[in-house]
Amino acid sequence: MAPSTPGPSPTPHIPDAPAAPAAPHAPAAPETPAPRTEPADLTGELLADPYDVYARLRETAPVRRVTGPDGLPAWIVTRYDDVRQALTDPRLSLDKRHALPGNYRGFSLPPALDANLLNMDPPDHTRIRRFVVQAFTARRTEKLREPVRRTAEELLDAMAPAGRADLVASYAAPLPIAVICELLGVPSEDRRDFREWTDALITPDPARPEGMKNAVRAMLGFFTGLIGRKRAQPADDLLSALIAARDESDDRLSEDELVSLAFLILFAGYENVIQLIGTATLALLRDPAQLAALRAEPATMPAAVEEFLRYDGPALTALRRFPVEDMTIGGVTVPAGETVLLSLASANRDPKRFPDADRLDLDRDTAGHLALGHGIHYCLGAPLARLETEIALTALLERFPRLALDVPDDALRWRPSTRARGLRELPVRF
Ligand code: HEM
Repeated sequence: MAPSTPGPSPTPHIPDAPAAPAAPHAPAAPETPAPRTEPADLTGELLADPYDVYARLRETAPVRRVTGPDGLPAWIVTRYDDVRQALTDPRLSLDKRHALPGNYRGFSLPPALDANLLNMDPPDHTRIRRFVVQAFTARRTEKLREPVRRTAEELLDAMAPAGRADLVASYAAPLPIAVICELLGVPSEDRRDFREWTDALITPDPARPEGMKNAVRAMLGFFTGLIGRKRAQPADDLLSALIAARDESDDRLSEDELVSLAFLILFAGYENVIQLIGTATLALLRDPAQLAALRAEPATMPAAVEEFLRYDGPALTALRRFPVEDMTIGGVTVPAGETVLLSLASANRDPKRFPDADRLDLDRDTAGHLALGHGIHYCLGAPLARLETEIALTALLERFPRLALDVPDDALRWRPSTRARGLRELPVRF
């Protein structure tokens, strides 16, 4: 059992998932009944302790049909080799037009937010990613080093007098939100706690169905307004650079694609970093010996961040993918159009790839971890994510030598998501 989880998992048994006979070259034919296994509903267990469920799945049913986060069937893939290979398999599409009708619900976003890289395959994906790579240069990331450090220090200054704080609300969240606003060029009067919008999408409240609609409307208004203002008054920021690249190129980036890109970068840019700062801090507080070793040798922080990503990274699964034809994953036939969830968190805890994988080990070789993806959709913000987390943790440990958890471990609350791992709060005293 992972030490980072709240309690024992209620049921230790995963029903056997009979592997369907392989038919790797069968053509896509959604109307032909494909061999099926009954989905197992693991939602409750996954929410209670994802790593325990993953361990059992890797052992007994590494490619398993389950009930997905939206209540519809999905295949979950849990072994490192299968996940890594699948991440580069062009037959697994991110374009939801390849989903079987009625088999996938997803977010209902309008085209101006939905036309983004995480819903696309080549050649559209290649065309749009090129725009970002051109504008989101190493120099632009490096220019953020000083603002990240300054913002971290200011937040710590504000926290210090109280002697205790919710580290998520006071530090882990405002830091990456400020940084991504700086990167994109969101003017200070337009900055806000964008988490209310992301929360409405990631963990919608069934009692408030209008919550998601309102969030979508507000986001659309925000991004179209911002792009309009940047177009009128360009500055030295990523959004202005993207607008210039779009307006000056004949490579056709549509206006919807531009708005969707700004939307994706903003949300992808802070959400995961918040969670990583939280889970990394928690992992250290639970392991005083490794915390002391890291304090003694702060230069090892970059390697430690890789281990935090591997050990308890924020993306439990990659974005859902859809086979464009019946295909075999790990010896199991997955029919065309069904939803496939590649568990990055499980792959990173696969003991066949990472010995003693459930142990945080800041000295281990983390090469090949999949927390930032792999293949053509590999995280575009990886250098920024690393830079922010390194600076945030270094500044925190330097400032508060007596940092400690302020609640019993089992009182910590995790977000109710089987996709995005993160703490709701992290009460600490210092
Ligand atoms: C700890 C922080 C982060 C984690 C764990 C993370 C994780 C990931 C993962 C796993 C993917 C691939 C998804 C897939 O293949 O299904 C991805 C893609 C992406 N990430 Fe990140 N990310 C982080 C931070 C960031 C930041 C800071 C930015 C932007 C500033 C960013 C922007 C993106 C974008 C634009 C993509 C889509 C790339 C594509 O489809 O070509 N991410 N990220």
